[in-house]
Amino acid sequence: MTVNTALDAKHLYACGNSGTGKSANIKVKLSHCERAIIFDPDDEYHTEKGVIRVESPNQLIALLKANANSSLKVAFVAEGLKAFEFWANAAFAWKNCLAIAEEIADVTTAAKAPPCWGKLIRRGRKYGITICAVTQRPAEADKTILSNAAFIRTGALGRLNDRQAVAKEIDIHYDEIARLKPLDWIEFNRADLSVTGGRLGTTAIYDYNRESKAFELRQKETKTHQEKPKAVKKTRKKTPLKK
Ligand SMILES: Nc1ncnc2c1ncn2[C@@H]1O[C@H](COP(=O)(O)OP(=O)(O)OP(=O)(O)O)[C@@H](O)[C@H]1O
Ligand SMILES: [Mg+2]
Repeated sequence: MTVNTALDAKHLYACGNSGTGKSANIKVKLSHCERAIIFDPDDEYHTEKGVIRVESPNQLIALLKANANSSLKVAFVAEGLKAFEFWANAAFAWKNCLAIAEEIADVTTAAKAPPCWGKLIRRGRKYGITICAVTQRPAEADKTILSNAAFIRTGALGRLNDRQAVAKEIDIHYDEIARLKPLDWIEFNRADLSVTGGRLGTTAIYDYNRESKAFELRQKETKTHQEKPKAVKKTRKKTPLKK
């Protein structure tokens, strides 16, 4: 295997409350890839097309070896730090894949990334590995992936410290996240520093353009659908955006 330092890092960090569409979004990415290895503590992925479910480390390794260079999507249904590190090491060794890690706050802390997970984040890119890290609790989860992610996507977050942890990284005000409805999302692209938004299952994209535009744009959307320009203006004045 030749190391390709020219490969772009495309890691995705996805956070949001339960039911905000984190896994639904990642399942779309999964459907478009050929090789994926999923750390799947809640057993959410085995129903996806082409995904093989395994529970034991031996089964996982056997499958990876049998498909060293071929197509495979495997969900490792396991819990705990030991299993997570085993999965991260296996993903790093397998290479050229999408490595999906569900609920990293259960197996990492904000302090320091566990060794194999850290290696996967820091060096995986050169081996064609794209990480999708998922959490409901960004304030408690590993920060290495948050700061290394090319894309940071957040849905609604109930707790202030979680909103603050993400908002700080993507340079928006945490109130923007407080305004999100259940399937809404905001996504930061580190390559061009753009911040866009939309709603799961729709193609509607808002450009936040690094200003506090979320509310304003939502009002425009309301205006388009309800034709109530005056009410829109009034509501906007009542809730000034904090910078
Ligand atoms: N295209 C879509 N449009 C609208 N709703 C959808 C779409 N795809 C999935 N959903 C629904 O959105 C919800 C989001 O579910 P999802 O499993 O992605 O949440 P999650 O953020 O991963 O939650 P958890 O942290 O509990 O795993 C589900 O109820 C799902 O049925
Ligand atoms: Mg999920």
